[in-house]
Amino acid sequence: MTGWFEQRSGLDGTVAVITGGAGGLGQAIVHDLVANGVRPAVLDLDAEAAEALRHTIADRDALVQVGDARDPDTLAALFAAADERWGRLDTLVNVVGGTFRAPFTDTTPKGWDALLRTNLLHVFHACALAAPRMRAGGRGGSIVNITTIEAHRAAPGFAVYAAAKAAVEQFGRTLAVELAPDRIRVNNVAPDFVPTPNLARFSHGDGAMSDPAGARVAIPLGRPGQVTDVSNCVVFLASALSAYLTGTTLHPDGGTSASAGWFNWPDTGWANYAPLRYLQS
Ligand SMILES: NC(=O)c1ccc[n+]([C@@H]2O[C@H](COP(=O)([O-])OP(=O)(O)OC[C@H]3O[C@@H](n4cnc5c(N)ncnc54)[C@H](O)[C@@H]3O)[C@@H](O)[C@H]2O)c1
Repeated sequence: MTGWFEQRSGLDGTVAVITGGAGGLGQAIVHDLVANGVRPAVLDLDAEAAEALRHTIADRDALVQVGDARDPDTLAALFAAADERWGRLDTLVNVVGGTFRAPFTDTTPKGWDALLRTNLLHVFHACALAAPRMRAGGRGGSIVNITTIEAHRAAPGFAVYAAAKAAVEQFGRTLAVELAPDRIRVNNVAPDFVPTPNLARFSHGDGAMSDPAGARVAIPLGRPGQVTDVSNCVVFLASALSAYLTGTTLHPDGGTSASAGWFNWPDTGWANYAPLRYLQS
């Protein structure tokens, strides 16, 4: 007997391409899609992480390739391998992305180019490869881009990353409308703070966001995100449960995009400023 979710989701037996699927958020996304019967084609730069993923899903019908999603030929080879293996494509999840911290005036055109390649251009290439396949399949499809809260607010130290991710969101909006007649949906998932090995590279200052007391101040739901907070959203967007949702963004951020600069200070309560006693101590 199949349960309510399995019946409504329609995920069992579908095929998904996931870029950056061997580590961090991508790994959780692959595991949760696979748990729902999805056959994944994964591309990841990290050979060790790819081997570990192959091992953990060894009993599943899966493709795991090592390569750089920024290279259009490598992406095309992944889609071709999925065609050959399964002859269908239902879902594309663009996970690859990343940044470095620097004030904009300290960055160079070379750095901007790297950020645009890592966060924006491969999304175009992957969508250009996915959409015709989904259209030819005649069953619709779902494209999910992992963006960030920084696409929706100022991000000091991350100006070009934030601009690139905002561009992904705007691209997704237009693509959603262009592809809607073919029932191909395009949506974004915009996390805030989810500890992953990549995010650890930015840890600086006093680690307040990871500390329970700090998380209670900065995050309305009072804790950092978990990888499953993001993968749950991706499973939903890949599934038929979201069949009437396109051109939009889910925010698994514990409420930080809603609180938008308001903090829940101990004793003082919510304020959109730092109470003086914290600054004077
Ligand atoms: N972790 C967070 O808190 C957070 C918050 C907001 C947005 N995001 C976004 O989520 C996505 C994943 O973030 P993460 O923290 O899991 O990062 P991560 O660096 O752990 O990336 C996930 C995987 O992508 C792979 N990868 C990186 N560059 C690649 C490339 N060019 N080609 C193929 N594979 C590549 C990595 O090897 C890794 O296995 C990124 O787009 C990031 O901007 C993350």
